[in-house]
Amino acid sequence: MKVYLDNAATTKLDPEVLEVMLPLMTEQFGNPSSIHSYGRAVRSALERARKSIAGILNAAPAEIFFTSGGTEADNTAICSSIETLGLKHAITSRIEHHAVLHTLEHLQKIGRIQLSYVNLNEKGEIDLEHLELLLSTNSRSLVSLMHGNNEIGNLLDLSAAGDICEKYQAVFHSDTVQTMGHYKHDLQQLKTDFIVGAAHKFNGPKGVGFLYVRPGIKIAPFVHGGAQERNMRGGTENIYGIVGLAKALEIAYRDMNDHQSHIMGLKARMIEKLKNNIDGITFNGNSGDLDKSLYTVLNVSLPPSDISDMLLFNLDIAGIAVSGGSACSSGTDIGSHVLNELQIPADRANVRFSFGKYNTEEEIDYAVNTLSELYKKEGIIL
Ligand SMILES: Cc1ncc(COP(=O)(O)O)c(C=O)c1O
Repeated sequence: MKVYLDNAATTKLDPEVLEVMLPLMTEQFGNPSSIHSYGRAVRSALERARKSIAGILNAAPAEIFFTSGGTEADNTAICSSIETLGLKHAITSRIEHHAVLHTLEHLQKIGRIQLSYVNLNEKGEIDLEHLELLLSTNSRSLVSLMHGNNEIGNLLDLSAAGDICEKYQAVFHSDTVQTMGHYKHDLQQLKTDFIVGAAHKFNGPKGVGFLYVRPGIKIAPFVHGGAQERNMRGGTENIYGIVGLAKALEIAYRDMNDHQSHIMGLKARMIEKLKNNIDGITFNGNSGDLDKSLYTVLNVSLPPSDISDMLLFNLDIAGIAVSGGSACSSGTDIGSHVLNELQIPADRANVRFSFGKYNTEEEIDYAVNTLSELYKKEGIIL
């Protein structure tokens, strides 16, 4: 049996999405910047996609900019806002995705900003009082805090964080890569200045995403060299990706309630079964709490055992695809920066299971049984 439980890394393309992409890979091959009929046909597909995404998020089409994915969208929001808005200080957390952390660290290294990290508790929850303190004691800041953590699934209350940012006139970027297409984002309600999406996290194609920019926030381009995206992002558009992205988001919103309850059911089933089968198992961050974490992510911490080092390998041999993430155990092994931050003991193995709409109860049971067997055999490698 082959079981894919790594949907936070990427998801399988939905056949409905492929169907709308194919014509743009074949007969509709024009460059959207060309003014002849080939170009115009593709341009109108591009603008339809933008309009659809904007409508779903309750924004205007002019506020959506297509990118090569989540990383580029995060980089654009951060680098361009620091550059254009003249911000000298940024606030983030130590458990952000590297698309955010490494970008901010780079800006700090070259002397563009001072960087502060908001305090976290042992579950990896953001201390909002500390955020307020940092905002009140520094110049106007960029705040970059993710909506759903890709490793431990922790969810941030975007409204509460947005209210605080508004009070101090901070510019608020949230990396919404893991929540886009899985939770509703209403940009008339949210106080975020930038949010982002990556199609491959919600059954769309890889290598395409978008950045939402709140009206009134004027930023310079991040990728120079062309007038595409209203001068905001040079380069011929990934048109089949963009059309696929829009379709994937339409499907995600159309089916959201069903998918949410199906996937939440799988996660609850796995939590229950793991607790019953493996003594000493715990859940990292808030991932074991269905109300406080992404319904797509469960990060388990396994008791010390001889098989810890070979765990992912053994699961892979058994046909189960998951992600690992160890705490730091030696100078050379830097481990997961997120788990290190939570101070998970280095002798525990950690596995991130992440679920998608195509997973079944049978697959969950197979994964739990395989893991339990490995632990029962303790030290015996399959
Ligand atoms: C939270 C988060 N941000 C950003 C990214 C980067 O997205 P992309 O792979 O589309 O560049 C990812 C993908 O792993 C992610 O999980």
